[in-house]
Amino acid sequence: MSSYTKHRRTFAIISHPDAGKTTLTEKLLVAGGAIHMAGAVKTRGDQRRARSDWMKIEQDRGISVTSSVMTFEYQGLICNLLDTPGHEDFSEDTYRTLTAVDSAIMVIDAAKGIEQQTRKLFEVCRLRDIPIITYINKLDREGHDPFELLDEIQEVLQLDIAPVVWPIGMGVDFKGCYDLQKDEFLTSEKSNTAWDKTVKCDGPGGNTLKQMGFGATLDSALENLELAKEAYSDFDEEAYQEGYLTPVIFGSALKDYGVKALIDLIAAHAPDPRPSPAASRIVQPDEDKVTGFVFKVQANMDKNHRDRVAFMRLCSGHFKRGMKIKQVRTGKDIMMHSPIMFLAQDREIVGDAAPGDVIGIPNHGTVRVGDTFSEGEDLRFTGLPVFAPEILRRVRLGDTTRIKQMRAALEDLAEEGLIQVFKPSLGANWIVGVVGILQLDVLKDRARNEYRIDLQFEGIPYELACWLKSDDPKTLDTFMTNQRNAIVTDRAGDPVFLAKSEWEYNYLSDKNPDIKFLKVKELG
Ligand code: G4P
Repeated sequence: MSSYTKHRRTFAIISHPDAGKTTLTEKLLVAGGAIHMAGAVKTRGDQRRARSDWMKIEQDRGISVTSSVMTFEYQGLICNLLDTPGHEDFSEDTYRTLTAVDSAIMVIDAAKGIEQQTRKLFEVCRLRDIPIITYINKLDREGHDPFELLDEIQEVLQLDIAPVVWPIGMGVDFKGCYDLQKDEFLTSEKSNTAWDKTVKCDGPGGNTLKQMGFGATLDSALENLELAKEAYSDFDEEAYQEGYLTPVIFGSALKDYGVKALIDLIAAHAPDPRPSPAASRIVQPDEDKVTGFVFKVQANMDKNHRDRVAFMRLCSGHFKRGMKIKQVRTGKDIMMHSPIMFLAQDREIVGDAAPGDVIGIPNHGTVRVGDTFSEGEDLRFTGLPVFAPEILRRVRLGDTTRIKQMRAALEDLAEEGLIQVFKPSLGANWIVGVVGILQLDVLKDRARNEYRIDLQFEGIPYELACWLKSDDPKTLDTFMTNQRNAIVTDRAGDPVFLAKSEWEYNYLSDKNPDIKFLKVKELG
């Protein structure tokens, strides 16, 4: 049967590296019945090498630099979990992924509280009013006091809090978690092992819990629970869906606590696919015509196939395999011969898909990040950001006879969003810009492995790049002529100014009030 009519939940997990995103993803997929064995997300050992041997850096540094989509069915719903790369260097890709989700899970390590990367990602969610469920992880280890953690979320992120799963003990005293919505106590037969037992309770103050014999740990946890219920809000679906309130689950991804409560909360309360803002109008998910936008392109996902896949989020309509849809940027119709769906461990050709789904479109470099697709309408979805790179290098080639291949490689990898490429108005050597230094290593590695090119990078006396915009073409022209050594163009042909320092950037933007020096550009 077609899954078209089923409701969708399209969400991502945001966190600082090491908070437990991969572990939680695995456990969610297991709880959702999508995989039967943990260990499939962060593939290890031989299996991992077999899967992504082109990406040596990924193995060497033990990070996941590729992101993907995992689709599974839970309680009659289709869940699309969009994975975001964990390493901070890859935040740009992560930001774009967040434009394609309707809600997010924020994972916090109980021993660390809100860390820098979580906060940055949270700000992006807030910009788009994305509702967030908070999962406080690693309660099986010593961490901060639950109240301190909740106060931090409330103060730093300015969110109302509604605890829905509360911890009983922590670290060596961890006895389990109390689900306030279901009045269930999750625990295990043996101490400090994975959750394996659910006890139906007659309320947090009732006899069932008291008779479990946890003594002082239980008494203080229940006291705290009572206090928390008084101090914080009750769960309110509307406030959550509008992004003002975050339900909080305390748990342990490793030991499986709070995972089922989390997915149940998503199933019951996370929003259906939301309307999508376009330049001319807002597109509603229940419109008849198919529309969507590409938030990510990934090349060479599978070395055997050397393919390139564009990830498109469907915003409206009933997508069917074989249909032709217009790539608005070029005006060309593209036939969707073999669109891909991403199942937890595999890919599959998709028959049909609904708003909220993510479809992989195999292509040879014709589809770009930021592209809008429609059944004819000249639509442009907005909000996909590109950030001003903070690291700039001139690219040199060991073997100069391969300049054509080098340019093709840089164009390809720029299209994928790994790097930005700038072409100088003077001189022939291209400049690459990245948000984090690790991306340069990835670039070098991929240029060597996939394009047989040996790239070298040279420092340049510029520290930041920004896009120039002005309503007054004459003023802009004069500025660009005066600064011609520092003017380059990006792949779209838009002018970019390279500043020697933050100071120069501030000085020149103050001195030229009719020109905008933009650190973020919208794609599309
Ligand atoms: P990430 O994707 O957010 O970077 O985090 P990941 O899931 O890889 O978890 C980071 C480390 O934290 C891992 O340990 C993982 O086992 C551990 N961890 C995750 N959830 C919990 C939890 O609930 N309790 C405890 N005690 N640990 C947890 P590692 O030793 O770095 O890696 P590994 O060898 O276990 O893979």
